[in-house]
Amino acid sequence: MKIAIRYYSRGGNTTKLAKAISEAVGVEAFTTDVPLREDVDILFLGSSVYAYGVDDHVKQFIDGIDVKIGKAVNFSTAALVKSTYKQVGKLLAAKNIPQAKEEYYCKGSFGPMHKGKPDARDLKNAQVFARNIVNDN
Ligand SMILES: Cc1cc2nc3c(=O)[nH]c(=O)nc-3n(C[C@H](O)[C@H](O)[C@H](O)COP(=O)(O)O)c2cc1C
Repeated sequence: MKIAIRYYSRGGNTTKLAKAISEAVGVEAFTTDVPLREDVDILFLGSSVYAYGVDDHVKQFIDGIDVKIGKAVNFSTAALVKSTYKQVGKLLAAKNIPQAKEEYYCKGSFGPMHKGKPDARDLKNAQVFARNIVNDN
């Protein structure tokens, strides 16, 4: 099974999730600046919210996908909103890329809010989530 991990992170919170997932599934995590070069069964795609929207890097990455994706699995951090699932889902739908119904989300620190998040438990949970996705595929 081919698995890829891509993420965009301005402040490092989503990077922490990407690294945890990378460790859990044994696949290197790259930023969205690195295009996919081959078809994958599972794409773990990480993002965050900045002023209510996902970053243009994520939009451009999805827009530029020209390989076949079995399913894209969303993971995200944010301070206020629940996740980036819907916003990323719309971008994926425009490219006919299936989005898994499962997602991983946890709070991400933002100034004085949610200090220390994601924390060790969040990272462990992300790893359990990712392993389950791979095992159930
Ligand atoms: C400029 C900026 C704008 C943000 N706007 C929002 C927002 O509209 N809604 C929200 O839930 N979180 C918002 N956040 C919080 C981030 O989504 C949160 O800190 C997230 O974990 C950042 O991920 P990153 O460290 O991977 O970049 C904002 C953060 C920054 C820096």
